[in-house]
Amino acid sequence: MAQTTRQILVTNALPYANGPIHIGHMLGYIQADIWVRFQKMRGHDCHFVCADDAHGTPIMLKSQQLGMTPEAMIAQMSLEHQADFADFGVRFDHYHSTHSEENRELASLIYTRLRDGGFINTKTIEQLFDPEREMFLPDRFVKGTCPDCGAEDQYGDNCDVCGATYAPTDLKNPKSAVSGATPVLRESEHYFFDLPAFGDMLKEWTRSGSLQDEMANKLNEWFEQGLQQWDISRDAPYFGFEIPDAPGKYFYVWLDAPIGYMSSFKAYCAKNGLNFDDYWKVDSEAEVYHFIGKDIIYFHSLFWPAMLKGAQFRQPTNVWAHGFITVNGTKMSKSKGTFIMARTYLDHLNPEYLRYYFAAKLTSRIDDLDLNLTDFAQRVNSDLVGKVVNIASRCAGFIAKKFDGQLSDTVAEPELLAQFTDAADAMAEAFEKREFSRAMRDIMTLADRANEYIAVKEPWQLAKDDSKAQDVQDVCSMGIHMFRTLMIYLTPVVPELSKQAQAFLNDDFTWDSAKQVLTGHKISKFKALLQRVPMENIEAMIEDSKDAMQAQQAPANPHLANDPISEEIEFNDFAKIDLRVAKIANAEHVEGADKLIKLTLDLGGETRQVFAGIKSAYNPDDLIGQLTVMVANLKPRKMRFGMSEGMVMAAGPGGKEIYILNPHDGAEPGMRVS
Ligand code: MSP
Ligand code: ZN
Repeated sequence: MAQTTRQILVTNALPYANGPIHIGHMLGYIQADIWVRFQKMRGHDCHFVCADDAHGTPIMLKSQQLGMTPEAMIAQMSLEHQADFADFGVRFDHYHSTHSEENRELASLIYTRLRDGGFINTKTIEQLFDPEREMFLPDRFVKGTCPDCGAEDQYGDNCDVCGATYAPTDLKNPKSAVSGATPVLRESEHYFFDLPAFGDMLKEWTRSGSLQDEMANKLNEWFEQGLQQWDISRDAPYFGFEIPDAPGKYFYVWLDAPIGYMSSFKAYCAKNGLNFDDYWKVDSEAEVYHFIGKDIIYFHSLFWPAMLKGAQFRQPTNVWAHGFITVNGTKMSKSKGTFIMARTYLDHLNPEYLRYYFAAKLTSRIDDLDLNLTDFAQRVNSDLVGKVVNIASRCAGFIAKKFDGQLSDTVAEPELLAQFTDAADAMAEAFEKREFSRAMRDIMTLADRANEYIAVKEPWQLAKDDSKAQDVQDVCSMGIHMFRTLMIYLTPVVPELSKQAQAFLNDDFTWDSAKQVLTGHKISKFKALLQRVPMENIEAMIEDSKDAMQAQQAPANPHLANDPISEEIEFNDFAKIDLRVAKIANAEHVEGADKLIKLTLDLGGETRQVFAGIKSAYNPDDLIGQLTVMVANLKPRKMRFGMSEGMVMAAGPGGKEIYILNPHDGAEPGMRVS
């Protein structure tokens, strides 16, 4: 086929590094992967990069909750994400992180260019602040009563019950979701990107005619509402990149997230000797496509092209949005077990079932897509197993047994076969335009024709008559040719199945090889290519999803979750505390005090009197003679019952759960603990 080699860069939205991949996410990655595999099969230079989106408040808080550094958490999450993608056959050429040097440099470069171009301004704004955790609260981290309908426990940006949208300051009885404290209003200087300055350019882009209709409509709505200045800074504490000329201010995660597309590609170029600028310079002839979900259109179709323009880079060729996955007709639900993690799916089902099902339902539009699990099983069983694979399993046995794997030297029904091979161009057009469902429908129509042909010819009847041997070989060879052509078209969708088919056919598929016919070719022994969807595995997957969600919701460690690790201190701060081993020389109840035990602590010569709030957990007599650890240099404090000259160290939340520290054998009173 005469065609020039295209230079194409494809990305799919970068997953957040604060949680596992679920099957909703998989829709976009599978869609993009099918498109990329198709382009590669056609011989184009198509590069597919991704990265974890590692910055922002939720990631910072989640890592604190897990008692990890954000760096450690995102490193672990990235490995899990990459394993999930790989096991679903999503084949990235490179996988990176937005928390990387490449991204820091590019974010810094783009910001500096925007600033020098006059597109950055500052303004002091008021925002809710958590006085306990000393941090500004993103809208999602303020909860309270909906100002419209009075529903309790609603987020700071919109109400789940009545759908109202509002500012977090409108909530009644607001509470910080981080600490439970009542937030206060605080002022802070923020940095803004001048989006309105790019209005004309964005309108022109919208009119270019290449955008999805729904996307263009949305953009027009936003233009009518008027473009706003975009707040691109966040105050410390924040996990992200500090703004180069603004200490203590960080880039909002959505500023450096799309830059992650470029930085992942940059790292990939460095590894593979490609030229980054060829793809990103203003007059680049390469094509750049972003596959995204419909929830993040605003970021990709307004902020991102404008940022690129302002920083003297090319804009994407197109941004392609897809709809959201629902399961069995409703939003994925934790209680119904339909909030299915990618890994839970993989534990039970062949990933190619889902790849095929998504392909069979995907169009170039932004409609939501329902994964109906009964329909899913029926569709895969009837189409892939019952139609396509069935062609091979009906014909291969005869070729192997009777003709030593040899296909006929001639094509018995050239006209019929031409219907299959001639479909290549229309099929390619459907893939190119992301009309995967059309391609799958056309493939299944052809598969029906192949099966009809075999049913009419009845090779199993012909095989009973030795004089009809040539007919058997011809009919079954026709079957194999038709099967092969369909498997070529299905390769981007079900690459593993295709690989097995190629092994069985002793062939290497390219898109163009669909036009060739393997007359006289020798094939291998046929092995069952694909099992029907086991219904019991679907049920087990739903059960496991219920369990997985419970495990997810239960914090990794309740102590850390309820009481996160405190802010970092310097060694010198710690060294000021003089901890010593002490022997409990005496312990007694205190008249009139219902929580306290009076301890006499022996430091090896010196003794200290300490009142400890441990009565709920200990009987004084059991403590006498034991070694423990005390803070020996705490300023004495006058209490109602006398002076308290230090503190014993104990763990636990209180009540019966108080555990006094006890040094290992050999420690002696007076020894310093360090
Ligand atoms: N980190 C941002 C994207 C930054 S891109 C510079 C983000 N991450 S995400 O993890 O929430 O989502 C990743 C992708 O999955 C997005 O394209 C999102 O639209 C998509 N989906 C998330 N849930 C989905 C469904 N239930 N159904 C289909 N796609 C879904 O957004
Ligand atoms: Zn409401």
